Amino acid sequence: MQTIKANNYSVYFNQEIYSYLNEILLTDAYSKVFVLVDSKTSEYCLTDFLANIATEVEIEIIEFEAGEQFKNIETCFEIWSALTDLGGDRKSIILNLGGGVVTDLGGFVASTFKRGIEYINVPTTLLAMVDASIGGKNGVDLGNLKNQIGTITTPKAVLIDTQFLATLPQNEMRSGLAEMLKHGLIQDKEYWNKFKNLSSLTTVDLDNLIHQSVEIKNTIVSQDPTENGIRKALNFGHTLGHAIESYFLENEEEKQQLLHGEAIAIGMILESYLSLKKELITNQEYQEIKYIILDLFERVEFSSIDIEKIIDLLIHDKKNEFGKVQFALLEGIGKVKINQFATNELIISAFDDYKN
Ligand code: GLY
Repeated sequence: MQTIKANNYSVYFNQEIYSYLNEILLTDAYSKVFVLVDSKTSEYCLTDFLANIATEVEIEIIEFEAGEQFKNIETCFEIWSALTDLGGDRKSIILNLGGGVVTDLGGFVASTFKRGIEYINVPTTLLAMVDASIGGKNGVDLGNLKNQIGTITTPKAVLIDTQFLATLPQNEMRSGLAEMLKHGLIQDKEYWNKFKNLSSLTTVDLDNLIHQSVEIKNTIVSQDPTENGIRKALNFGHTLGHAIESYFLENEEEKQQLLHGEAIAIGMILESYLSLKKELITNQEYQEIKYIILDLFERVEFSSIDIEKIIDLLIHDKKNEFGKVQFALLEGIGKVKINQFATNELIISAFDDYKN
């Protein structure tokens, strides 16, 4: 698959990735290579990954516990300390081998350790391949508020080996699919149409869909790396989706576990409803979006109290400006209108419609 050029790095696929990696490890004079993994990628991906690396440079593994609840500054402290204890310096490089938590947190650790060292993302989940590893935003959660602390620092490269998906559970695959659906909805109607019949998907089809998704995200990010304008389109489904995700994380004792993409899928339905009510999409488009998403993602229960608390959380959304909650809404399928607002009443009616 063809390499995709981003602003100041490239995204390599499958057979190209290890030749690229081994080449730079030979030519770029790194003092040490750190491979950052979580407990899941340590178990399922690390052995295969290391077997493909051929280098004289010393490799150290740093591992932390898997899970969104460990995407915090305490984990960063541990990793910064491990880097220090293991002799990390400004010529060290970190290879982030994992899902979105590893690439987001690892990118943040790298961009702050000794004022910034190089890092490469090696995403192992569908979500990380099509979204989290691309674009340079990194960071950690602050309590239950998602990605409140972080930087925008691009990786040296992103290496996508879709073979890692072989060990990924179904719900994690679906989670990634949500971001791919979003890419179609915001930018490419033809791409969205491909998701109308997913029953006979081959590995090659999936590889092609991943490649297209990365292209869509990269095209948007390249035009606006620091999110002052068009990059906000990528936030479609995420204003409400992030609030829902935070709320479920905050109430993990009573609530089911909700993966990022599962929360975003709900957010996309709700925000499509807002688009409908603002007359930006037709009822037919709204029903199609709702039907396709609900065909893939089970409907989740929300009580009136849940909805009230989710709306309270919107105030902390980092996309807000001047204290106003901002939405990126659809303007037909394949186009987005950014900097949109919605009243609490309209948001509540979006939840009511989702429930039925
Ligand atoms: N790292 C995810 C993004 O930049 O959007």
